[in-house]
Parts: sequence; C-alpha cells; structure tokens
Amino acid sequence: MDSLPWLSLFCLSFFPLLASSALLFQGFNWESSNKGGWYNSLKNNIGDLANAGITHVWLPPPSQSVGPQGYLPGRLYDLDASKYGSKDELKSLIAAFKDKGINSVADIVINHRTADRKDGRGIYCIFEGGTEDSKLDWGPSFICKDDTEYSDGTGNNDSGEGYGAAPDIDHLNPQVQKELSEWMNWLKTEIGFSGWRFDFVKGYAPSIMKIYMENTKPDFAVGENWNSLSNGQDGKPNYDQGEARGQLANWVENAGGAINAFDFTTKGILQVAVQGELWRLKDSNGKPPGLIGIKPENAVTFIDNHDTGSTQKLWPFPSDKVMQGYAYILTHPGTPSIFYDHFFDWGLKDQIAKLTAIRKRNGINEKSTVNILAADADVYVAKIDNKVIVKLGPKTDVGNLIPPNFRVSASGQDYAVWE
Ligand SMILES: *[C@@H]1O[C@H](CO)[C@@H](O)[C@H](O)[C@H]1NC(C)=O
Repeated sequence: MDSLPWLSLFCLSFFPLLASSALLFQGFNWESSNKGGWYNSLKNNIGDLANAGITHVWLPPPSQSVGPQGYLPGRLYDLDASKYGSKDELKSLIAAFKDKGINSVADIVINHRTADRKDGRGIYCIFEGGTEDSKLDWGPSFICKDDTEYSDGTGNNDSGEGYGAAPDIDHLNPQVQKELSEWMNWLKTEIGFSGWRFDFVKGYAPSIMKIYMENTKPDFAVGENWNSLSNGQDGKPNYDQGEARGQLANWVENAGGAINAFDFTTKGILQVAVQGELWRLKDSNGKPPGLIGIKPENAVTFIDNHDTGSTQKLWPFPSDKVMQGYAYILTHPGTPSIFYDHFFDWGLKDQIAKLTAIRKRNGINEKSTVNILAADADVYVAKIDNKVIVKLGPKTDVGNLIPPNFRVSASGQDYAVWE
C-alpha cells in the first residue's frame, strides 16, 4: 500500500513529458485501400518514420466496411475483411512500429454503422458484431429515432449532427457506450493500438466523447471536428477566426479536456496566408490565429489529410507551398501531423525530417512560446521559445530581424529556419 502514492506521483509527472513531444504521422491516403496489402507495404517505411522522430502513426479504420477506405464500417470486430490487410498483418505492423518506439492510433468510426442484414420488413437494420458471441449484434433500437434516412430507428434522438450514408448510432444508449468501449479496449489489448483518431465527432455530443475517453484511456487521442472558417463577402476567410477556433476549444473542454482537436482553423488560415497574405498569421492579440493561439496543448496541426488532399482534394493546401506549411507547423506549438503523401509520394521526406530534427533538438513542444517578429503580405517571421526563428514568404531581406548569433539550419522555396 505504501508504494501507491509514489506510483501515482510518478505517473502524473511522467505523462506530460511523454505527451509534449508527440509527432503524429498519417499512414495512409484515400487510395491506400486499393493498393493491396497496405499494412505489409507500410512496414517498409517504419525506419524512415522512426528516423524522423515520429511518435504515433495514425492507421486507417481497421474493420469490415462497405466503403473500401473503412469509413462505412459494419462488423467492427471483423478485422480480416479490411481492404488494407488481415488482422494478423495489422498486429504484425503495429508490433513492428512498437519495436521502433512508435505507437499506433486507430481510426475510430462510431458515429454511424452499416447494417449487415435486412429485417422482416426488408429494412437494413440488423447489425452483426463479427464475433461468435453476440457482441455488437444490434437492431433498430440502437439507431437514432430522428435518423431521417433510416427512419425505423427507435432509439433516442441523435445527440449530434446526422450522417447521410449510414444509420446514426444512438450513443445515449448505455449498452452502445459499454459495447463500443469494450471494442476499443479490445483494439488495445488484442491488436496493440494505444490511441484514437475519432472520425466525425460532430455526430455525437462531446459529453459522450468524454465517456469513451474515460472508458478507454488512450495515450493519445484526437477528434475530427471539421468546421469551416467564416468568409467575408469576397468569399475569402475573414481575418478574425475567433468563432471557428472557439468552437474547437469549446468542444475540447466539453469532451473533458484530455482529447485533442485537429486544428482546422490553422490549416484554413495558413493555406490562404501563404498566397501573399502572410499578415493573416498574427491575430489581433499578436498570437497565432488558429487553435494553437488559444489552446495549443490540445491542437493537432496538419497540412492535408485523406479528405482535404489525396485524390479527394476537398480543401487542399496549395501544392507548391506545402513546405511553407510544414515549416510553420513543425516550428510552432501544437502537435504536428505529417501526411503520408507529402513525406513519401511527393519526395519531401528529407526536407520534412530536417524540420522535425530542429523541433526535437530545441525541445519545441505543444506549449512552446511564439513571438511574432513580422507578419506582412510577403513575409512572416516568428521566434519560438527564443531558440528557433522561422521565416515564410518570398521576401529574402530579413537580416535586421535575425540576431547575429542565429544560424540557418534549414531552408527551401520561400522558407528558412535559424537556430
Ligand atoms: C426528436 O426529433 C423529432 C424530429 O426532429 C422531433 O419532432 C421530436 O420532438 C424530438 N424528440 C425529442 C424528445 O426531442
């Protein structure tokens, strides 16, 4: 009994150290499911990712799914019907990542679920878990009552936004909470995952997110709360995006404060700013304008993902300015996320790895301090933790802003970093 207080003291003090240096990598894109044997092929990349200091890899949704990419899951326990590979191949991949010190993050798609069979009336509303026992074998009482596309649901009204392509699951049902938590804990103990990326978290209340976090205790978690920037009459984002980032910050708070949110605000502003409007990168308080300016410890920054970029290109970063984006997020607070395509397919591995090395060497973390030295149309200069200076934009004459004891340690098209 005597050792217990010591143990909890140790855990409390050690955990923030681990979390502060997290570096996420998205290990797939929209086409990965078509490549055949994605889990196996990703194994060849583990060395490069470990060398770049990646701490967590985000893998695609692992369960049987109507859509090959995994975002229309049905039999959640069935990991052998995935287009990315078999359950054993997934376990082997996760173990190989773990050998190199990289933890695996599962893509958790639970807002909606595709039914396995029709009921007596010919309506698709019978769900099967994919196990011998009856885990996750559900029916209409587990579907939200106000789900307009699948109107036979008899559960509670949806606690969040509806999803068109599949029945919305009633997360207010305690059995749903219990069985989904059990499934996620099985992904940890049986498959080897340690963290979560939650898909479409707008689909259920943040108070429910909090329950899943408490029931499953991930070492890292981030939610996709994809919100839009507010636009002016010219169709461009307004300078002040306080509402957009405020929504993200509120969601984090209401979900219990342990989960992170993808910083859609930073992405949106940054990709407009690098097109000759770098003045956008300093808010009216003199701070970064995205979620990292108000709640950096819960912000996961990114340039593109399988939706915004890849072959879907729903909201792509200007492709010729992607390295400016990485120079920003890899020197700034928040937890940066690197996209597979940029690192491997676009040949940016060495440039990105140079920046991650600078981040690590200087101990830049999710709570680092940003001192913005210039934010004009053609140049942005910021000093981070008094150790690193980053410049974005075409303007080259910034010598007066760089102290003589700083040396350039990375540079490329329209960006430079000094230490
Ligand atoms: C549930 O949603 C329906 C349809 O939007 C609405 O008419 C009804 O009042 C709601 N019920 C409750 C208890 O909120």
